[in-house]
Amino acid sequence: MQIIGVDQQGTEKSLRSSQSIVAELQQWRKSQQSGRVIGLVPTMGALHEGHLSLIRQARRECGVVALTIFVNPTQFAPGEDLDSYPRTLDSDLQLAEQEGADLVWLGNSRDLYPTGFATTVAVPELADRLCGKSRPHHFGGVCLIVLKLFQLFQPTKAFFGEKDLQQVTIIERMVTDLHVDTEIVRCPMVRESDGLAMSSRNVRLTAEERQRALSLSKALFAIEESWRGGDRMVHSLIEGAMSVLDPDLELEYLEMVDRNDLSPVVGEAKGDVAVCIAARAGEVRLIDNITLEFFS
Ligand code: PAF
Repeated sequence: MQIIGVDQQGTEKSLRSSQSIVAELQQWRKSQQSGRVIGLVPTMGALHEGHLSLIRQARRECGVVALTIFVNPTQFAPGEDLDSYPRTLDSDLQLAEQEGADLVWLGNSRDLYPTGFATTVAVPELADRLCGKSRPHHFGGVCLIVLKLFQLFQPTKAFFGEKDLQQVTIIERMVTDLHVDTEIVRCPMVRESDGLAMSSRNVRLTAEERQRALSLSKALFAIEESWRGGDRMVHSLIEGAMSVLDPDLELEYLEMVDRNDLSPVVGEAKGDVAVCIAARAGEVRLIDNITLEFFS
């Protein structure tokens, strides 16, 4: 496995190092045989089973698998958890190797956002909803880094988890609107055995907060059960879920949305519906979602 962004001692490239990770990556890209299917798995590291499932899917579908690790500052607003975001580089590199990644590329702000950097990317119609209400900077930063990665890697396919449903929906829109020649592959969310959606941030939960956090998926599963029982009324489905939710969580939103454009579903739920939730357990912000299938 090749690594770009570490020196020979295995430590992250010092800021004094001369060759930029961008130039090195451009050389790598040029060295790839034309016609090979290149799969990209963008991550912020602190890899867990959810990320590994993306690498495995990329491995099944692509001749070359590249993983990126970069805690991208432009998607965090001041006061958010950029500094406390978990960083586990050694174990990430081991896991990437075990899963058969061909390349791991470690981003750094010096090379990606040099002095004078001024470009923005936005998909406001989709980004202003759900998480965008409390994190107005977030998806602009995600689009910016993902578009940069697509420019640099020119991947045939890029793999994103449906845990971040809004993120993958926005990226799909951006790729369509800007004619980016990369197929976006949506991969199913991975849960812990007790139902908690896997997230790099879960390691920051205390035992008590983790217990509370479990009620996010319980609330979603309660909606699924009522839905299977035939309830289609948004207010009663949400009311049922609210009764399951731990009252000590700080709820940001619990919404039923159209899965295609994330617009709110009101009244009676019809069509392709997702239920999305975001809440804080202590300092840790958590998101989860489920898709409701029609059972007739
Ligand atoms: O989903 C993530 O981990 C990040 O938002 C991404 C797509 C790697 C961009 O920084």
